[in-house]
Amino acid sequence: AATEPFYGDHQSGIVTPQQNSMVFAAFDVNDSVITSQLQTMLARWAAAASLLTVGKPVGPVETQPGSPPADTGEAFDLGPHRLTVTVGFGESLFDDRFGLADKKPAALAPLGQLAVDSSIDPTISGGDLCIQACSEDPQVAFHAVRNLARIGRGVVTLRWLQEGFGRASATSTSQVTPRNLMGFKDGTANIKAEDPDIADKWVWVGDESDQEWMKGGSYLVARKIRMHIEAWDSDDIVDQEAIFGRSKDSGAPLSGGSEFTALNFTKKGPDGKPLVERFSHVHLAHPDTNGGVQILRRGYNYTDGIDTRTGTLDAGLFFIAYQKNAHEQFVRIQNNLAQDRLNEYIAPISSSLFAVPPGLTAVGDWYGKTMF
Ligand code: HEM
Repeated sequence: AATEPFYGDHQSGIVTPQQNSMVFAAFDVNDSVITSQLQTMLARWAAAASLLTVGKPVGPVETQPGSPPADTGEAFDLGPHRLTVTVGFGESLFDDRFGLADKKPAALAPLGQLAVDSSIDPTISGGDLCIQACSEDPQVAFHAVRNLARIGRGVVTLRWLQEGFGRASATSTSQVTPRNLMGFKDGTANIKAEDPDIADKWVWVGDESDQEWMKGGSYLVARKIRMHIEAWDSDDIVDQEAIFGRSKDSGAPLSGGSEFTALNFTKKGPDGKPLVERFSHVHLAHPDTNGGVQILRRGYNYTDGIDTRTGTLDAGLFFIAYQKNAHEQFVRIQNNLAQDRLNEYIAPISSSLFAVPPGLTAVGDWYGKTMF
């Protein structure tokens, strides 16, 4: 069965070729938990994640009568399906509760309210800790989060949880570009695993960090972006393509070529206007319009069923981006996207930033060992 490496310089689940399903959970540490209890739990998470990612249960499924099984069992016969478990720390973890105030990286300062942020729900944003579990099998990802939450019981409580049913990006040149729920190819111009120099430049924290323990880590932005699906579905195809600046069918730039042809922002149509419009999504998100900055996108399509007040689909993109510094990368692009024509059809409803520490070195290492 296919496995992804668990130990290494970086946590898996970032440049790992993006799996098809995700369960993302955020946790808060319970009141009156002391530092040693939190550390023990993080060590137990590391041990459990090392087993889960090779397809093993976190403990016996059949235990002594009188106690519940150590592993909940629903992934018992499934195999790992390239499961990755990626753990992050939220800004709120670095208050006086655990003596971490002087360990807080400057880059973990809250993102604040951005221009498009009029509908952010704090109850599905933030948290002291997060787990991103990705797998080709949705039940394997769910099982991982469920069992880690169970191991954490008494120390942490789930704050919010999001399931993603289909990948909406590509993080490897070996992958076909998937489609988001607007029907467009998503992940064409993304940072890909095959280009480690680009990842070193834009994804992995390096010597510029004020916190030694974050070197080799990354900053994770997660934003649930609801789509106004019914309005989008009634927009005509020419307008849909103009909004993105790419063809819906092939993903090719409207300036010509095929999917991976570079965008040309100066090429004009017969009406004298640029073929890729100035306020199109790809123009405003492109490095050329953002001082060169790039991010690694790793989002998922989600649905939470329907909005019962209106009978409309409750669905969209659970946007995830990894980068060296979210304030200099994600925020810069997002500020430019304040003018995006796509904004008519989307609304961010959650916003979170987590510091993802580097990979675990070997058995015995645990999340945050060099941070405390
Ligand atoms: C490109 C969709 C939100 C950053 C694209 C593309 C699509 C797309 C279809 C073109 C294909 C590709 O190169 O991947 C969406 C949808 C969104 C969304 C449906 C919301 C529901 C965002 C956000 C950001 C972002 C919030 C960052 C703040 C980018 C970047 C590119 C891109 C950097 C590549 C631009 C380039 O270099 O050509 N997006 N996107 N997107 N998007 Fe988004």
